[in-house]
Amino acid sequence: MRDLILTRRQVGLGPLILVNASHPVRPEALRPARLAPALGAPDILMEAGAAALLQALVAAVGGEGKILPVSGWRSGAEQQQIWDDTLAKDGEAFTRRYVALPGCSEHQTGLAIDLGRAARRIDFIRPAFGSTGVCGALRRAAARYGFILRYPADKQAITGIAHEPWHFRYVGIPHAFLMEQQNLCLEEYLPWLRAADRLCTLPDGREALIRYIPAEGAATALPLPKDACCQVSGDNESGFVLTLWAAQAGDLASLPGQAV
Ligand code: DAL
Ligand code: ZN
Repeated sequence: MRDLILTRRQVGLGPLILVNASHPVRPEALRPARLAPALGAPDILMEAGAAALLQALVAAVGGEGKILPVSGWRSGAEQQQIWDDTLAKDGEAFTRRYVALPGCSEHQTGLAIDLGRAARRIDFIRPAFGSTGVCGALRRAAARYGFILRYPADKQAITGIAHEPWHFRYVGIPHAFLMEQQNLCLEEYLPWLRAADRLCTLPDGREALIRYIPAEGAATALPLPKDACCQVSGDNESGFVLTLWAAQAGDLASLPGQAV
């Protein structure tokens, strides 16, 4: 066994951080260490790993040139400007439905991207992104590349944001797959992980065990099998989500704790 040490700061970092009106982005997550152009657009940036997977997703559905990035990483000043402009133009009710409060936007983390179907004019706040053709194909393939539709129509009362078919959020694999399978938005998925360990089998047979670890004091020590292949993300609330991949079938059975 070896200990993985997680510091309190890491609660606010990683692909599974919950960002909404009651969970502001923490200062440490406001500018990703690595930003890269989204789909080759030099002025639209994303966290570099998410940008690479977005590129692969769009290529997989033959969407190059047909699906365009509209808005990626935003600074706090940009989110404030978008809020102010929308408020002046469309009023408060509209703004609250479609623009996150400055400080509370996923766009400030670099993990979110707004996509639009290529057209002569693309609306910046509500880009057209249909459910048929190449847009529908991207929507169906998104989870395989770690992306979720963050604001679905049936979750508006929970997310606090209107249906946004254009806003995709990177959460990683296997989480995007599980969220889709269980029909859970991020506000629901994290409590579901806290309730019990979850075992996920991806369509290609890969298995992962997902375990929630509450943060303790300044640092949390996690005993792990020596050769375990794992990922960790903070939840931007109270702890960490540990994802352990099985190198071989049966490996997960030997991990400490109970999988369900
Ligand atoms: N449109 C989403 C909610 C944002 O402003 O982050
Ligand atoms: Zn967005």
